[in-house]
Amino acid sequence: MPATSASSTQQSADHPYVLAVTGASAQPLAERALQLLLQRGRSVHLVLSRGAHEVWKAERGESVPLDPEQQQQFWRDRLDCQTGALQCHRFNDQAANIASGSYRTRGMVIVPCSMGTVGRIAAGVATDRVERCADVHLKEGRPLVIAPREMPWNLIHLRNLTNLAEAGARIAPPIPAWYTQPRTLDDMVDFLVVRLFDGLDEDLAPIQRWTGDQR
Ligand SMILES: Cc1cc2nc3c(=O)[nH]c(=O)nc-3n(C[C@H](O)[C@H](O)[C@H](O)COP(=O)(O)O)c2cc1C
Repeated sequence: MPATSASSTQQSADHPYVLAVTGASAQPLAERALQLLLQRGRSVHLVLSRGAHEVWKAERGESVPLDPEQQQQFWRDRLDCQTGALQCHRFNDQAANIASGSYRTRGMVIVPCSMGTVGRIAAGVATDRVERCADVHLKEGRPLVIAPREMPWNLIHLRNLTNLAEAGARIAPPIPAWYTQPRTLDDMVDFLVVRLFDGLDEDLAPIQRWTGDQR
Protein backbone atom coordinates (compact mmCIF):
# COMPACT_ATOMS: atom_id res chain seq x y z
CA MET A 1 0.00 0.00 0.00
CA PRO A 2 1.65 3.27 -1.03
CA ALA A 3 2.49 5.30 2.06
CA THR A 4 3.32 8.67 0.62
CA SER A 5 0.18 10.36 -0.63
CA ALA A 6 0.11 14.09 0.06
CA SER A 7 -2.97 13.73 2.24
CA SER A 8 -1.63 10.85 4.35
CA THR A 9 1.58 12.62 5.28
CA GLN A 10 0.05 16.01 6.17
CA GLN A 11 2.98 17.93 4.73
CA SER A 12 2.78 21.63 5.48
CA ALA A 13 2.16 23.91 2.52
CA ASP A 14 4.93 26.14 3.93
CA HIS A 15 7.61 23.53 3.41
CA PRO A 16 9.70 23.66 0.22
CA TYR A 17 9.47 21.28 -2.70
CA VAL A 18 12.43 19.35 -4.03
CA LEU A 19 12.49 19.36 -7.82
CA ALA A 20 15.00 16.91 -9.27
CA VAL A 21 15.94 16.69 -12.92
CA THR A 22 17.86 13.71 -14.34
CA GLY A 23 19.35 12.72 -17.65
CA ALA A 24 16.25 11.55 -19.49
CA SER A 25 14.68 13.26 -22.45
CA ALA A 26 11.90 15.84 -21.85
CA GLN A 27 13.89 18.53 -20.04
CA PRO A 28 11.24 21.17 -20.97
CA LEU A 29 8.91 19.49 -18.45
CA ALA A 30 11.36 20.29 -15.67
CA GLU A 31 11.79 23.86 -16.83
CA ARG A 32 8.05 24.47 -16.96
CA ALA A 33 7.54 22.85 -13.55
CA LEU A 34 10.14 25.18 -12.06
CA GLN A 35 8.59 28.21 -13.72
CA LEU A 36 5.06 27.41 -12.53
CA LEU A 37 6.22 26.70 -8.98
CA LEU A 38 8.14 29.97 -8.74
CA GLN A 39 5.33 31.94 -10.36
CA ARG A 40 3.04 30.59 -7.63
CA GLY A 41 5.49 31.83 -5.01
CA ARG A 42 6.60 28.37 -3.95
CA SER A 43 9.93 27.55 -2.37
CA VAL A 44 11.97 25.11 -4.47
CA HIS A 45 15.18 23.18 -3.96
CA LEU A 46 16.44 22.28 -7.42
CA VAL A 47 18.92 19.49 -8.17
CA LEU A 48 20.13 18.51 -11.63
CA SER A 49 21.96 15.20 -11.90
CA ARG A 50 25.18 14.94 -13.89
CA GLY A 51 23.12 13.32 -16.68
CA ALA A 52 20.62 16.19 -16.65
CA HIS A 53 23.40 18.68 -17.39
CA GLU A 54 24.29 16.58 -20.47
CA VAL A 55 20.77 16.13 -21.75
CA TRP A 56 19.84 19.76 -21.08
CA LYS A 57 22.70 20.81 -23.33
CA ALA A 58 21.63 18.35 -26.03
CA GLU A 59 17.96 19.38 -25.90
CA ARG A 60 18.19 23.10 -25.15
CA GLY A 61 21.49 23.98 -26.79
CA GLU A 62 23.15 25.65 -23.81
CA SER A 63 24.83 24.66 -20.56
CA VAL A 64 23.29 25.03 -17.11
CA PRO A 65 25.93 26.39 -14.69
CA LEU A 66 27.15 23.90 -12.07
CA ASP A 67 27.78 26.57 -9.46
CA PRO A 68 24.59 26.92 -7.36
CA GLU A 69 24.57 30.72 -7.23
CA GLN A 70 25.26 31.10 -10.92
CA GLN A 71 22.60 28.51 -11.60
CA GLN A 72 20.02 30.42 -9.55
CA GLN A 73 20.72 33.52 -11.64
CA PHE A 74 20.56 31.45 -14.83
CA TRP A 75 17.05 30.23 -14.00
CA ARG A 76 15.83 33.62 -12.82
CA ASP A 77 16.95 35.20 -16.09
CA ARG A 78 15.78 32.37 -18.30
CA LEU A 79 12.35 32.04 -16.69
CA ASP A 80 11.98 35.81 -16.29
CA CYS A 81 10.55 35.22 -12.82
CA GLN A 82 11.58 36.83 -9.52
CA THR A 83 8.87 35.35 -7.30
CA GLY A 84 9.15 32.28 -5.08
CA ALA A 85 12.34 31.05 -3.44
CA LEU A 86 14.93 29.05 -5.34
CA GLN A 87 17.91 27.17 -3.97
CA CYS A 88 20.03 25.20 -6.44
CA HIS A 89 22.27 22.30 -5.39
CA ARG A 90 25.25 20.55 -6.91
CA PHE A 91 24.49 16.95 -7.93
CA ASN A 92 27.47 15.63 -5.96
CA ASP A 93 26.92 17.61 -2.76
CA GLN A 94 25.63 15.10 -0.22
CA ALA A 95 26.02 17.30 2.86
CA ALA A 96 23.42 20.05 2.49
CA ASN A 97 19.96 20.36 4.05
CA ILE A 98 17.79 18.30 1.67
CA ALA A 99 20.07 15.25 2.00
CA SER A 100 18.89 14.89 5.61
CA GLY A 101 15.60 13.47 6.83
CA SER A 102 15.51 16.09 9.58
CA TYR A 103 15.02 18.82 6.97
CA ARG A 104 11.28 19.04 6.29
CA THR A 105 9.93 19.25 2.75
CA ARG A 106 6.52 19.15 1.14
CA GLY A 107 7.58 16.42 -1.23
CA MET A 108 9.86 15.63 -4.14
CA VAL A 109 9.25 15.37 -7.86
CA ILE A 110 11.79 13.80 -10.23
CA VAL A 111 11.06 14.94 -13.78
CA PRO A 112 12.19 13.57 -16.11
CA CYS A 113 13.60 10.50 -14.37
CA SER A 114 16.19 8.36 -16.18
CA MET A 115 16.17 4.60 -15.90
CA GLY A 116 19.61 4.81 -14.31
CA THR A 117 18.25 6.95 -11.48
CA VAL A 118 15.16 4.72 -11.20
CA GLY A 119 17.42 1.67 -10.84
CA ARG A 120 19.70 3.22 -8.26
CA ILE A 121 16.86 4.52 -6.10
CA ALA A 122 15.08 1.15 -6.33
CA ALA A 123 18.29 -0.58 -5.22
CA GLY A 124 18.82 1.83 -2.32
CA VAL A 125 22.05 3.10 -3.88
CA ALA A 126 22.46 6.83 -3.26
CA THR A 127 25.44 8.00 -5.26
CA ASP A 128 24.31 11.57 -5.89
CA ARG A 129 22.08 14.19 -4.35
CA VAL A 130 18.98 13.21 -6.34
CA GLU A 131 19.19 9.58 -5.24
CA ARG A 132 19.95 10.43 -1.61
CA CYS A 133 17.07 12.87 -1.49
CA ALA A 134 14.66 10.32 -2.99
CA ASP A 135 15.87 7.77 -0.46
CA VAL A 136 15.17 10.27 2.32
CA HIS A 137 11.65 10.95 1.03
CA LEU A 138 10.86 7.26 0.97
CA LYS A 139 12.29 6.58 4.43
CA GLU A 140 10.46 9.56 5.90
CA GLY A 141 7.19 8.56 4.22
CA ARG A 142 6.97 11.82 2.31
CA PRO A 143 5.49 12.22 -1.17
CA LEU A 144 7.86 11.19 -3.94
CA VAL A 145 6.59 11.56 -7.50
CA ILE A 146 8.69 9.94 -10.22
CA ALA A 147 8.18 10.73 -13.91
CA PRO A 148 10.17 7.98 -15.68
CA ARG A 149 11.04 8.64 -19.34
CA GLU A 150 12.14 5.82 -21.55
CA MET A 151 10.52 3.93 -24.41
CA PRO A 152 10.07 1.02 -24.46
CA TRP A 153 10.51 -0.21 -20.89
CA ASN A 154 12.38 -3.49 -20.42
CA LEU A 155 11.61 -5.98 -17.67
CA ILE A 156 14.29 -4.50 -15.40
CA HIS A 157 12.76 -1.02 -15.73
CA LEU A 158 9.30 -2.42 -14.97
CA ARG A 159 10.54 -4.32 -11.92
CA ASN A 160 12.43 -1.31 -10.60
CA LEU A 161 9.38 0.90 -11.03
CA THR A 162 7.22 -1.70 -9.28
CA ASN A 163 9.66 -1.78 -6.36
CA LEU A 164 9.50 1.99 -6.11
CA ALA A 165 5.70 1.97 -6.21
CA GLU A 166 5.67 -0.66 -3.45
CA ALA A 167 8.05 1.50 -1.42
CA GLY A 168 5.58 4.39 -1.61
CA ALA A 169 6.60 6.40 -4.67
CA ARG A 170 3.97 7.63 -7.11
CA ILE A 171 4.95 6.57 -10.63
CA ALA A 172 3.68 9.20 -13.05
CA PRO A 173 5.16 8.72 -16.54
CA PRO A 174 4.82 11.80 -18.74
CA ILE A 175 2.30 10.28 -21.14
CA PRO A 176 0.14 12.84 -22.93
CA ALA A 177 -3.63 12.74 -23.33
CA TRP A 178 -5.48 13.77 -26.46
CA TYR A 179 -8.96 14.20 -24.93
CA THR A 180 -7.88 17.72 -23.98
CA GLN A 181 -7.50 18.50 -27.70
CA PRO A 182 -4.08 20.16 -27.29
CA ARG A 183 -3.24 22.69 -29.99
CA THR A 184 0.43 23.22 -29.19
CA LEU A 185 3.33 21.43 -27.58
CA ASP A 186 3.10 23.96 -24.74
CA ASP A 187 -0.50 22.80 -24.06
CA MET A 188 0.80 19.24 -23.83
CA VAL A 189 3.72 20.21 -21.57
CA ASP A 190 1.40 22.08 -19.21
CA PHE A 191 -0.99 19.15 -19.02
CA LEU A 192 1.83 16.76 -18.12
CA VAL A 193 3.41 19.07 -15.54
CA VAL A 194 0.13 19.94 -13.85
CA ARG A 195 -0.89 16.26 -13.67
CA LEU A 196 2.44 15.48 -11.95
CA PHE A 197 1.72 17.98 -9.21
CA ASP A 198 -1.85 16.73 -8.79
CA GLY A 199 -0.08 13.98 -6.86
CA LEU A 200 1.06 16.59 -4.34
CA ASP A 201 -2.31 18.33 -4.01
CA GLU A 202 -0.89 21.32 -5.86
CA ASP A 203 -3.02 22.82 -8.63
CA LEU A 204 -0.17 24.41 -10.55
CA ALA A 205 -2.05 25.99 -13.45
CA PRO A 206 -5.41 25.89 -15.21
CA ILE A 207 -5.52 23.06 -17.75
CA GLN A 208 -8.26 21.43 -19.78
CA ARG A 209 -9.50 18.58 -17.57
CA TRP A 210 -12.01 15.94 -18.56
CA THR A 211 -15.45 16.95 -17.31
CA GLY A 212 -17.55 14.46 -19.21
CA ASP A 213 -19.24 17.27 -21.16
CA GLN A 214 -16.79 16.90 -24.03
CA ARG A 215 -18.53 13.74 -25.30
C1 LIG B 1 20.17 13.23 -25.45
C2 LIG B 1 20.03 12.11 -24.45
C3 LIG B 1 18.77 11.65 -24.13
C4 LIG B 1 18.61 10.63 -23.21
N1 LIG B 1 17.35 10.20 -22.91
C5 LIG B 1 17.18 9.25 -21.98
C6 LIG B 1 15.85 8.85 -21.60
O1 LIG B 1 14.85 9.36 -22.11
N2 LIG B 1 15.73 7.93 -20.60
C7 LIG B 1 16.82 7.38 -19.97
O2 LIG B 1 16.63 6.57 -19.07
N3 LIG B 1 18.09 7.73 -20.33
C8 LIG B 1 18.30 8.65 -21.30
N4 LIG B 1 19.57 9.03 -21.63
C9 LIG B 1 20.72 8.35 -21.00
C10 LIG B 1 21.03 8.95 -19.64
O3 LIG B 1 21.29 10.34 -19.76
C11 LIG B 1 22.25 8.25 -19.00
O4 LIG B 1 21.91 6.91 -18.69
C12 LIG B 1 22.74 8.97 -17.77
O5 LIG B 1 23.85 8.26 -17.26
C13 LIG B 1 21.69 9.11 -16.70
O6 LIG B 1 22.28 9.76 -15.60
P1 LIG B 1 21.42 10.22 -14.34
O7 LIG B 1 20.49 9.10 -14.01
O8 LIG B 1 22.45 10.45 -13.26
O9 LIG B 1 20.74 11.48 -14.71
C14 LIG B 1 19.76 10.05 -22.58
C15 LIG B 1 21.03 10.53 -22.89
C16 LIG B 1 21.17 11.54 -23.82
C17 LIG B 1 22.55 12.06 -24.13
